[in-house]
Amino acid sequence: MTNKQTPFETALENRDSDGTKLFSPSTARNRDPIRKTFLETMPHTGKILEVGAGTGEHAVHIASALPDVTWHTGDPDPSARASIMAWLRDAALPNLSGPHAIDVSTEEWGIEADGPFDGLLSINMIHIAPFAAAQGLFAGAERILAPAGKLFLYGPFSKDGIHISPSNETFDRSLKSRNPHWGIRDIDADLLPLAEKNGLSLERIVSMPANNLSLILRKN
Ligand SMILES: C[S@@+](CC[C@H](N)C(=O)[O-])C[C@H]1O[C@@H](n2cnc3c(N)ncnc32)[C@H](O)[C@@H]1O
Repeated sequence: MTNKQTPFETALENRDSDGTKLFSPSTARNRDPIRKTFLETMPHTGKILEVGAGTGEHAVHIASALPDVTWHTGDPDPSARASIMAWLRDAALPNLSGPHAIDVSTEEWGIEADGPFDGLLSINMIHIAPFAAAQGLFAGAERILAPAGKLFLYGPFSKDGIHISPSNETFDRSLKSRNPHWGIRDIDADLLPLAEKNGLSLERIVSMPANNLSLILRKN
C-alpha cells in the first residue's frame, strides 16, 4: 500500500483465497463507530440503499444489526460488486440484497422501482469521485427517499472552507494531485446548497474518529 491509495484501492490488494472477497483495513477500523452512529440516527425498519458499497463489509456489518431493514447495495465497479456478492453470500443474511450497478452521477439508478427507500447511505465516496457524484447523490436522494427519509454521509468534510485538521488538508491535496476533480467537499459551500436544491435539510453532524464526520440529512 502507498499512502496515496484510496481505501478501496488498498482493499483490491487484500483478497481472500479465491480472489473475490476484498478486505479494507480502513473498514476494520471505522466500521464500529459508523454502525453505532448509523443505529443512533437512521431508521431501524424499512428499506436502506447503500451506494458506493465498495467491498461490501459495511453492508454486512450494519445490516446484521438491523434485521427489520432490507438492505440494498450498489457500486459501479465490477470488482466491488463481485466482492459485495461474496460478502453477502458468506454472511447469508436474509435482509441483504444486490449488488446493483449504480453510478450515482447518472439520472436514473435503475433501482427506483424498488423504492421508496427510508434511508440512503454513502460512505467515503463523494471526495473520491468528481463533484457530479455528490450532485447525483443528492438528486437521487430526493428521487428515491420516502418523505422524511434520511441520507447518511460519512467521510472527511471541511466546514466554511476550512479543513478540520492538518491531515485532512494534506489528504485533500493528495486527492487533487491524483485527480483534479476529486477532493474533500465543503459542508457549507458544496453540500448545503445541494441539500436545499434537492429538498433535504441537515439534521445532525456527528464527529467521528480520525477527523471524519457523519452527516445526517432528512428529506423535507
Ligand atoms: C473509497 S471507496 C469506499 C468504499 C466503501 N464505501 C468503504 O467505505 O469501504 C469508494 C467507492 O465508491 C464507488 N464510486 C465511485 N464513484 C461512484 C459513483 N459515481 N457512484 C457510486 N459509487 C461510486 C467506488 O467504486 C468505490 O467502491
